[in-house]
Amino acid sequence: MAIALVTGAAGFLGARLSSELTRRGHSVLGVDNLTSGSLENWQAFGESDRADLIIANIERELPHVEGVELIFHFASPASPRDCAMHPLETMRANAIGLDCCCRFALAHGARVVYASTSDVYGSPAEHPQRENYWGNVNPLGPRACYDESKRYGEALLSSYCRAYGLDGRIVRIFNTYGPGMRDDDGRMIPTFIMASLRGEPIPIFGGGAQTRSLCYVDDLVRGIVDFALLERPWHRVMNLGNDEERSVLDIARLVSALVGSDLHTAEFPLPQDEPVQRRPDLSRARMMIDWQPATPLRQGLAQTIAWYREKRCVAV
Ligand SMILES: NC(=O)c1ccc[n+]([C@@H]2O[C@H](COP(=O)([O-])OP(=O)(O)OC[C@H]3O[C@@H](n4cnc5c(N)ncnc54)[C@H](O)[C@@H]3O)[C@@H](O)[C@H]2O)c1
Repeated sequence: MAIALVTGAAGFLGARLSSELTRRGHSVLGVDNLTSGSLENWQAFGESDRADLIIANIERELPHVEGVELIFHFASPASPRDCAMHPLETMRANAIGLDCCCRFALAHGARVVYASTSDVYGSPAEHPQRENYWGNVNPLGPRACYDESKRYGEALLSSYCRAYGLDGRIVRIFNTYGPGMRDDDGRMIPTFIMASLRGEPIPIFGGGAQTRSLCYVDDLVRGIVDFALLERPWHRVMNLGNDEERSVLDIARLVSALVGSDLHTAEFPLPQDEPVQRRPDLSRARMMIDWQPATPLRQGLAQTIAWYREKRCVAV
């Protein structure tokens, strides 16, 4: 069983990833500076007798631990709202933070799994998005601190692999949701659920015809760990997500139906550089790790709504 270092372990995905690793018998050392994650989230989803958390900034040295075989670099602000509030921290987490992880991995003979994103495809000119599509990203736009730093991260990791033979892997994660997302992080699912629970209009940007493909968090972390443990992957980069594509308005309708409220929306213009369609091509994940998402959207949303009701908004 391996010792894994998980950066961003107190965040939405990092905590769930830590729990999937310990469930499979591995030990976890989490590192987080609590920019967008929280101790509460770590305690609810990540903590166990095989998992510890250190509060530290991964732009500096990583903690000295012997025997680390796997490094999951997940530390980075991720929601558009968090990235807009912390643009330089976002760039540094994916540049300096990833560089620290790669140097640590070389020194310890460890493997690095990097959390990249479907945002590297930008506003895609190809649909669905396959891993060999290079993307269409505005390097000067308001989303660039995130999109471009992830693209830089992919290039940095690939350079370590070429120059030093590092075993580095890149997961391009498409929109993921589930219990544990901060209710104020501005991402679509918490925003829609919280608005419905409070009886407020659901904010819809740009008419709602734009599409998203939403993956339930348990499916995603299962795929990430399968990919991380694969002995000889024949590709370094893999999409993970759900390929069931829905319009944003459809998703809003489904959320309010599951909450049991009537759909009321408030219309806003589409933000600059917002992608109008997103769907992963999952052929590579199916071929390499025999993986596919298992949770239907209706079921995943019902579970997420139940969590918000129970943990977050008992008073609503
Ligand atoms: N959730 C998604 O749908 C999604 C989609 C694509 C990619 N990703 C990627 O997955 C990773 C995790 O995303 P998430 O949704 O869990 O976001 P999150 O904001 O919930 O978690 C990120 C965590 O990283 C920590 N962090 C940020 N900068 C740090 C630093 N310098 N040092 C230490 N810790 C730091 C934060 O405190 C937080 O706990 C990110 O790299 C993100 O880009 C997520």
